[in-house]
Amino acid sequence: MDATKHILIKEVGPRDGLQNEKKMISTEDKIQWINTLSQTGLSYIEITSFVNPKWIPQLSDALEVAKGITKKDGITYAALVPNMKGLETALMADLDEVSVFMSASETHNLKNINKSIEDTFPILKEVITNAIHNNISVRGYVSTVFGCPYEGDVSLDTVIKVCDELFQYGVNEISLGDTIGIANPKQVEHVLSELMKRYDSSKLALHFHDTRGMALANILQALEMGFTTFDASLGGLGGCPYAPGASGNVATDDLVYMLHKMGYTTGINQLKLLESAECIQSKIGTVLGSHQMKIWNARSLNPYR
Ligand code: HMG
Ligand code: MG
Repeated sequence: MDATKHILIKEVGPRDGLQNEKKMISTEDKIQWINTLSQTGLSYIEITSFVNPKWIPQLSDALEVAKGITKKDGITYAALVPNMKGLETALMADLDEVSVFMSASETHNLKNINKSIEDTFPILKEVITNAIHNNISVRGYVSTVFGCPYEGDVSLDTVIKVCDELFQYGVNEISLGDTIGIANPKQVEHVLSELMKRYDSSKLALHFHDTRGMALANILQALEMGFTTFDASLGGLGGCPYAPGASGNVATDDLVYMLHKMGYTTGINQLKLLESAECIQSKIGTVLGSHQMKIWNARSLNPYR
């Protein structure tokens, strides 16, 4: 393994993390948290989501958040968009990138965005084409790559079909989602080695939810295969409200700890990450005990406390 590599961590906490939190967080508190994330050395932050507010009430203030944050040079600020309506609002927010998303399983796609896979393609094609026309790059998410909460196994052929379409429309990268945290390292090895026959690994990112505590093991597997871009959510916040049982993404703080201890660089300052974790924890309150524990874990890394 080449331990001198730089690993790119894409922080999705303000979007994937908050979309699943029941307690409503105020716009000001979201802005304050994102501003602390901007001070950590992260170079990519997915700040919100321009979806139907009836589907995700927590992120109904997407435009206010996107306009309210203090942007720092060198950071890519991104947001999720499901359709042209979402893109039109996102364009008012002066973002660097938008992310489109769909699932490789019919049922999850339907439950999550109310469309069949086939019907989703033209919608996303229009979004991607228009975003690029407006000089905004587009990332693609493919959900349920390693399993679906409704259908179980997901066909690799469908994963490839969806990836092919999104790449053809112009996405710069595809993030492969283990939406419900069901993957294991052997499966990751199998799926990624198949996908590497078709796509350059630098065009693929991994998005592991940590429902069964498998996320770091899965990331280790992907690292050993040469993958260098991983999504993570500070404190392990998050989940997909339309994927029953899904818990948060791999915790950014745990991932940074593992990578730094293994000799990888991330550009992220662990102390600043801890301060940012404490910021969002104080806003979410004591409801989420496991997040408190993550933050205690992070504090124990801190040689100055
Ligand atoms: P729909 O109801 O089929 O939409 O929802 P529609 O086009 O029929 O429109 C219905 C109403 O919604 C209309 O308003 C539209 O204007 C409005 P009305 O006329 O009834 O007043 N509308 C919107 N409003 C604001 N912003 C929009 C928008 N679009 C329509 N963008 C839709 C389709 C896709 C919009 C809906 O299903 C939706 O918002 N879904 C989002 C669900 C979601 O956010 N899930 C979580 C994110 S995905 C995820 O977490 C997975 C990921 O992390 C990777 C992984 O873990 O695998 C990315
Ligand atoms: Mg997710």
